[in-house]
Amino acid sequence: MWVTNLKVVGVVLGTLALYTLIANEIPQVQSEVPQTLTLGANVTPEQLVAAGEKVFNGIGGCTTCHGLGTRAPNLLTDEKGTGPIGVRCGKREPGKRCKDYLFESLDNPTAYVAPGYQPIMPVMTKQLSPEQVWAVIAFLEAQGGTVDVTGEDIAKAKPLTPGASPGSAGGGSLAGGSTDPKAIIQAAGCLVCHKLDGQGQVIAPDLSHVGSRRTAESIRKKILDPASSIAKGYEKLAGIMPKTFGTMLNAAQLEALVQYLAAHK
Ligand code: HEC
Ligand code: HEC
Repeated sequence: MWVTNLKVVGVVLGTLALYTLIANEIPQVQSEVPQTLTLGANVTPEQLVAAGEKVFNGIGGCTTCHGLGTRAPNLLTDEKGTGPIGVRCGKREPGKRCKDYLFESLDNPTAYVAPGYQPIMPVMTKQLSPEQVWAVIAFLEAQGGTVDVTGEDIAKAKPLTPGASPGSAGGGSLAGGSTDPKAIIQAAGCLVCHKLDGQGQVIAPDLSHVGSRRTAESIRKKILDPASSIAKGYEKLAGIMPKTFGTMLNAAQLEALVQYLAAHK
């Protein structure tokens, strides 16, 4: 009897440990950074930069793509000899000031696509409040440049669309911003083409064991840029998988989906 009990305890502890492990693997996109920053008209550059650093490493989800090497340009360190983002931001587009370029990067990422990268960056002004957006711009300017963001920029910024909640809407309005992988798969319509755990269609590869064929990194890449690698035997169907998931999912959702699929061994 006590052996069975021990086994049960073992399984429970094991599961808990596993979930803790997985939770720690997921970048800190859901940390305790307050979702609503209140930065008044008299906010100092130092306060903005400090708030922006938290947005960058937390709710903004920026580190899901930036700073890992190949998926997105380095922002805090040198990028291909052009310096960190605060140094190169004023030189990207002729006649565009650093501040305006950085705002454009977050508001309309495809207006200028950094050379050598795919246009997968989500529209951040839909997910973050004006305070969070301008704070993160100040933080980026501080990487080798001059911080000229002021309380006025925040005051002038158009507020989020009514009903949208910062940090969960916009790029992540899919499934109401839910990070439940099943809800994401449902809302994204993956099963219109794929089978997973016995549900869905068979047009595209069965994803029930995708984790044994692909690493998390490869699954992430495939979702963000379906042309990056075509599943063996499905060459004729290349190009069918939608290319828009990168803009439909917010960073936390993307990570939840990737980890869920990667665990399907
Ligand atoms: C899903 C991946 C992804 C996420 C999340 C993401 N980015 Fe990006 N970002 C990219 C890629 C890829 C590029 C390069 C292509 C382009 O310019 O659109 C880029 C470009 C940029 C640029 C221009 C860089 C340059 O060298 O000119 C800035 C600034 C930037 N991102 C800031 C941010 C910030 C701040 C966040 C978080 C609030 C963020 N990004 C989140 C993928 C991402
Ligand atoms: C309109 C149909 C369609 C939808 C919707 C779709 N896919 Fe796909 N997907 C495909 C096809 C076709 C392939 C095989 C050809 C290829 O690799 O591009 C594929 C391949 C893949 C692969 C590689 C599988 C392997 O065995 O290597 C992954 C992973 C994947 N899709 C994930 C997803 C996820 C996650 C979603 C939802 C967010 C999704 N797909 C939505 C059609 C679709």
